Amino acid sequence: MCGIVAYVGNKQVTSLLIEGLKRLEYRGYDSAGIAVMRTPEGATMETPGEITMCRSVGRVSVLQSRVEKEPEKYQGSLGIAHTRWATHGKVTEANAHPHIGKTKDGHTITLVHNGTIENYATLRTYLEKRGHTFYGESDTEVLTKLIAELYDGNLERTVQKTLQEITGAYAIAVICDREPHTLVAARKGSPLIIGIAEHAYIVASDQSAIVSHTTQVIHLDDYQVARLCAGPSDRKKTVVGEPWSVDFRTTTLENEEVTQEIQELELDLQEIELAGYEHYMLKEIMQQPDSIRTCLNGRIDKREGRVVLGGLTNLAKELVRARKFILTAQGTAYHAALIGEYLLEELAKIPCECEYASEFRYRNPIIEDGTVVLAVSQSGETSDTLEALREAKDRGATALGVVNVVGSTMSRETDAGVYLRVGPEIGVASTKAFIGQVTVLTMIALFVGRRRFLSKDLVSRYLDELDQVPEFVAQIVKQTDAIKACVEQVVDRDNWLFLGRGYNYPVALEGALKLKEISYIHAEGMPAAEMKHGPIALIDEGMPVVFLATQGSQYDKVISNIEEVKARGGRIIAVATEGDTNIERYTDDGFVFWVPSISEPLQPLLTTVPLQLLAYHAAQLRGLDVDKPRNLAKSVTVE
Ligand code: G6P
Repeated sequence: MCGIVAYVGNKQVTSLLIEGLKRLEYRGYDSAGIAVMRTPEGATMETPGEITMCRSVGRVSVLQSRVEKEPEKYQGSLGIAHTRWATHGKVTEANAHPHIGKTKDGHTITLVHNGTIENYATLRTYLEKRGHTFYGESDTEVLTKLIAELYDGNLERTVQKTLQEITGAYAIAVICDREPHTLVAARKGSPLIIGIAEHAYIVASDQSAIVSHTTQVIHLDDYQVARLCAGPSDRKKTVVGEPWSVDFRTTTLENEEVTQEIQELELDLQEIELAGYEHYMLKEIMQQPDSIRTCLNGRIDKREGRVVLGGLTNLAKELVRARKFILTAQGTAYHAALIGEYLLEELAKIPCECEYASEFRYRNPIIEDGTVVLAVSQSGETSDTLEALREAKDRGATALGVVNVVGSTMSRETDAGVYLRVGPEIGVASTKAFIGQVTVLTMIALFVGRRRFLSKDLVSRYLDELDQVPEFVAQIVKQTDAIKACVEQVVDRDNWLFLGRGYNYPVALEGALKLKEISYIHAEGMPAAEMKHGPIALIDEGMPVVFLATQGSQYDKVISNIEEVKARGGRIIAVATEGDTNIERYTDDGFVFWVPSISEPLQPLLTTVPLQLLAYHAAQLRGLDVDKPRNLAKSVTVE
């Protein structure tokens, strides 16, 4: 949700910032902007700079072509940039970042921000009274002008002071033309990473914009400010490209110095490239066999019937004695959490609840002794999930995380957790992260279950099947052309239903979500039985109804539901178990997607995959931008 990137160092900054924005574009793509500090010819460290800015509505590519038309205007070695997902204020150039404020002595403050400033209305009134005029409606403009109002000749100190007046969430990067070699960054609630390169610093919302420059990073904590300076070793002359002396420090808002540990990024640049695929989403679907393999690697011992989860070992006794698990998440991760609820109750026999984090955090939940709260999140930054986790911890719960992004806020704030290890997910619609989440939740359920009631043999059997999942998924994705051919026949229909029972009920929810988020087709997912309580009224001639109809304890019941839909003219698309000849009686030619036979608790790992491809092809056939669906952002870091 909004991406920021900023650089100070010995290189020309513009192309570098644009490249960073492209990497972060999945976080928002309503508008983009850049501000560069230009230093006059022959400038010394003390000569004030001049800030030039370019902002445009639309994708980063629009900004790029505008900037490239006048390259000389954007020459500099300090700059900030932003790609926006609108919160306050419409999608206009005036509301695009960076924002500008003028100090009392006529200097310019420029700032980019990810987050929301809650008390912006009061501050705006105050600033208007102090003579500031506003060009837009953005809360960020208010923050920028407040920094300008309070500027006392020292940007770091002013930012510290200003942020004490702010409520809300922020990750910011700020520059001032009076201090042309200084970049100040700060965070509270929104993610921010600082990369430490040889003669430079790069600040960004996530590692994808940093990894091509350095793997050495620090993660700022909430209420911390970083001052990053880079200037020529010869203080008398600014020479871009030569070794520069660099210097940084991190402080609290009260100006107390804090030492931040430098960490090594474990991200490989290749992982964030398209690798010949047309879209990240397709790449991420197709590479799921490898993602699952990496997720399982070293964690399952089939012969011994053991799951080895290093992150949970120290807490094993506590988890075994837990009286209740609460799983919490948003979006696709919530659907994975729902499957987790079923898995933990069935395999570990621990009472579970699964709840949207946005509901949990505000409804005064009951947390008693022995409650474990488990947050599921790809990014580890989703604002509601993070706050739910904090609320649960404050009330005494043990906090676990099932998170993908290493070093993310959730991963640092939980008592323990298990990483997905599926690599970076770039497509806005989550696919491989979902499969990773379900894989990890299955392992957690077996980890706890084995220590409670499950026999070694039973766990061995499950692990044996789990080990085959990558191969099974590889077989399923080979049906991509057949799935496309099916979708072609129904893609013009604007209303779809997805129905499943048991473990396939959350899969139905996920299938519907995938379809609506990238193809803009209205789709609803629900328990198959629930259809009769209202939604059946929607069914008319030719309406596509996708059934999760795999072999299992509720197969016959699902078939009855299929009959009911068929009788009303609905067009049946089924996900079924290989070898099921019965199902073809209800479907048109090519309207069955096959999955290998597997135990019910493991079925979601297979049945979700054809639905991902179905959504992908529907969006493609409708000519939509699969990786950047309208109005969405990958990481929702505001409420
Ligand atoms: C957004 C994304 C979804 C994701 C959800 C939760 O809505 O578009 O794909 O499932 O956030 O994100 P998280 O990072 O917490 O899994």
